Amino acid sequence: MPTPEIHGPNASSGKDAEGEPRRHAPSTLRNRDAILPVLIDHLPTEGRVLEIASGTGEHAAFFAPRLPDGLVWQPTDRDPSALAGIDSYTADSGCARIEPARVVDVSHRLWAEDLSADALFCANMIHIAPWIATLGLMAGAGRLLPPGAPLLLYGPFRRDGRHTGDGNVDFDRSLKQRDPEWGIRDLEGEVLPAAQQAGLALRTVVAMPANNLIVVLERHV
Ligand SMILES: C[S@@+](CC[C@H](N)C(=O)[O-])C[C@H]1O[C@@H](n2cnc3c(N)ncnc32)[C@H](O)[C@@H]1O
Repeated sequence: MPTPEIHGPNASSGKDAEGEPRRHAPSTLRNRDAILPVLIDHLPTEGRVLEIASGTGEHAAFFAPRLPDGLVWQPTDRDPSALAGIDSYTADSGCARIEPARVVDVSHRLWAEDLSADALFCANMIHIAPWIATLGLMAGAGRLLPPGAPLLLYGPFRRDGRHTGDGNVDFDRSLKQRDPEWGIRDLEGEVLPAAQQAGLALRTVVAMPANNLIVVLERHV
């Protein structure tokens, strides 16, 4: 059975060579090679990629150096205590095209006010946050992105009300036990209507290992 991707018992904390605290999420090592080609296919070749919910920072540190030279990667997370660890990983990557991590909480109504982005990437957040975070993410994306620019969502989804694998049934239950406002979102019934409401259309859906998807949305032209 595929291992569900959640920061909990599978995530760990440690320190870098300078003694800075940083976290490790094993799932990022499992999924990054599958995600990278989809980023290359769907991100622009120039501009700013705003990563929402960067978590440990391991995705930022892996993806940014492997993307076109014209792209700058901006990691963010709601949790201020995550920033030092994110910056520690991104410094180790040696990539000069990664900005210092900053706090962004997409459930705040005005989160997108003082930011700019040519693309958005958000992995493993919308099922591990209350629904208002998805609504806020979509609303901000609709305001921030230029016409035709993408928002890529990675994670597990239900399709037309059904789970895409047996493992996700238990995973969904465990999420809801941790917080009744969490849970695997339904792509057709919940996520796409919220996207449409915010001015985003579906570009494509890409199947990922372990019953995950990348949903590529784009700002209406
Ligand atoms: C399971 S982790 C995923 C981290 C990383 N994207 C990954 O795939 O490993 C979920 C992250 O979402 C962040 N998060 C939760 N609610 C958020 C919100 N409203 N705005 C921004 N980030 C949020 C948490 O702080 C946490 O770092």
